[in-house]
Amino acid sequence: MNLLMTGITGAVGMEMARWLAANAPRARVFALIRAASPVVLKARWSKLAAKLWPEGQRPEEGRFVPVLGDITRPGLGLSPEDAERLAGEVTHVIHSAANVELDAPLEEARLCNVEGTRHVFEVVRTFRRLERAAYVSTLFVAGRRPGLFRETDFEHEAGFVNPYEQSKYETEVYVRGLMKELPLAQFRLAYLIGRDTGEVTRYNSMHALLRLLHEGHVGAFPGTPETLMELSSNDYAAAALLTLFREHFQPGRTFHIGSGARGLPLQDFIDISAEVSAETEPRWRQGAFLPPDIVDEDTYTLLRRTLLQTQNKKSHEVIRLGDTMYGHLTASQVFDCQPVQELLGERVPLPPVRELLRDVLRHCMATNWGRNRS
Ligand SMILES: NC(=O)c1ccc[n+]([C@@H]2O[C@H](COP(=O)([O-])OP(=O)(O)OC[C@H]3O[C@@H](n4cnc5c(N)ncnc54)[C@H](OP(=O)(O)O)[C@@H]3O)[C@@H](O)[C@H]2O)c1
Repeated sequence: MNLLMTGITGAVGMEMARWLAANAPRARVFALIRAASPVVLKARWSKLAAKLWPEGQRPEEGRFVPVLGDITRPGLGLSPEDAERLAGEVTHVIHSAANVELDAPLEEARLCNVEGTRHVFEVVRTFRRLERAAYVSTLFVAGRRPGLFRETDFEHEAGFVNPYEQSKYETEVYVRGLMKELPLAQFRLAYLIGRDTGEVTRYNSMHALLRLLHEGHVGAFPGTPETLMELSSNDYAAAALLTLFREHFQPGRTFHIGSGARGLPLQDFIDISAEVSAETEPRWRQGAFLPPDIVDEDTYTLLRRTLLQTQNKKSHEVIRLGDTMYGHLTASQVFDCQPVQELLGERVPLPPVRELLRDVLRHCMATNWGRNRS
């Protein structure tokens, strides 16, 4: 397999690179990476390889080929030589690059996610040996749509919780059209909080929220104690996606990769966060910090309004983050991930999500939320 991958420097991409190096010895990976020049590209790749694989365990020369490109540019900004090489050699594609900032302005999110995906597949159309392609999406294209969300579900008019997921929904509209002409499947992922070891490779809004909770600034979540949180690990997402891509590929299909009904109840999320926070923060042990309450939507709306009238910057920060995430809690969503769990069985087991959250929190605290990383 000659695989073109976008997003290899991201949380999901790095894990896919590790998985491919360990499990697909015959795969050659062309990794599209943005950089100001070929020299910078080389430097970015060396730094990434050093992070991914310890000295002596690096994949042999030529198995990973960095290619300079930017998905926001037509033709990906490829040099004519690279464009011709990819067109003649690539057999498989995984498009994972995206702007995943939940609060990026919609136009910015669209530029990378909708337009960027269009640019990727316009280039893919030129590939003469293409066998299969994957687009990496998110379960949260469900937006504010309540209840069970299946692999076959898509269109809704419930609105979105943040511009990111709106842009990913709009991208799916494009990708679904493209499925009529290309051997293409899409993979919707859960919210990823770290590696199975607890290591956080890229900090996101969930870590920002966990940090504010750890510092005692989160007073309440909307929802019910049983509301499920769709959290998972980078390792599971990468292993599941690549196993499905290689062994269970079906053009035109959408795969749900997440915990589904085995997700983490909101009450457990709060209890674990408080319990682990108490390991390093004495104010939790002394009762000066209290676990957030779980309240109904109306009560939360009132609380939110009251807090916005105060001058407390931290409260405003919590509200801003909550505004980009809590809509999923109040929609009482459950993502149907059973079909993938049945396909993969014990070969790619779900990570134990309670342990994962504990380990991620411990990693965050040990590294001062990513500031003290070596
Ligand atoms: N992480 C999650 O919780 C999650 C959940 C559901 C779905 N997903 C989906 O999974 C995919 C990967 O997400 P992630 O968490 O790995 O994101 P990430 O950690 O933020 O990484 C994003 C990747 O996209 C690349 N990228 C961004 N803009 C680019 C551009 N203009 N040209 C080329 N590359 C560009 C980044 O490269 P640079 O290093 O140059 O920035 C990076 O490699 C996305 O499609 C996302 O929507 C993620």
